Amino acid sequence: MESGSLDIGEFEEGDIDQIIAIEQDSFPTPWSANLFRKEIASPISRLLVARISREGGGWVAGYLVYWAIADEIHLHNIAVRRDMRRRGIASRLLGEAVRCSRLKGARWLTLEVRRSNRVAQRFYEKFRCSVRGIRPGYYTDTGEDALIMWAELCLIPLGTCTLEGMGEDGNA
Ligand SMILES: CC(C)(COP(=O)(O)OP(=O)(O)OC[C@H]1O[C@@H](n2cnc3c(N)ncnc32)[C@H](O)[C@@H]1OP(=O)(O)O)[C@@H](O)C(=O)NCCC(=O)NCCS
Repeated sequence: MESGSLDIGEFEEGDIDQIIAIEQDSFPTPWSANLFRKEIASPISRLLVARISREGGGWVAGYLVYWAIADEIHLHNIAVRRDMRRRGIASRLLGEAVRCSRLKGARWLTLEVRRSNRVAQRFYEKFRCSVRGIRPGYYTDTGEDALIMWAELCLIPLGTCTLEGMGEDGNA
């Protein structure tokens, strides 16, 4: 992997083209740039971006969108650049969302995931999420069911946020 350090931060307009490229490579029905912008404008929505920075510039490695509603956070979107997967980047993103939400008094994490997306389910299971229900035919593009997963935020071990292969400080 290229050298650099990983930072988790808020969305900046200059990230949008790279986010859209990751989105289009990751999902059968990707969000548009307008949908991302609409999300950012919403007061309950937060878009976190994982950036690899190095001398002379940086680039987007992944992102996460969640809503904070009452004592719950709802994960709406998460993806990592294909060539950067399995290095703990999604764990860093979700770990940051969990850490901030706990500080604000949230208690629950919920999300929907395609029944066929075993990789994402394994990822969420690592964050102590378990299946609590099914939304039949939830995904209109394929008619696939969604599994509804839940976790209690205080039970999520933030040790899962260590960026593997980069060291705890995020240095590559
Ligand atoms: C799901 C996704 C975001 C995970 O990102 P990532 O940065 O690769 O995840 P991490 O490296 O933090 O993985 C953490 C844990 O998730 C699980 N996991 C991640 N990728 C996995 C894979 N390919 N196979 C099995 N388990 C996997 C493992 O438990 C892993 O821990 P480990 O490496 O110690 O075994 C990424 O695969 C992705 O972008 N997928 C396409 C978009 C998508 O499906 N998003 C979810 C929509 S609901």
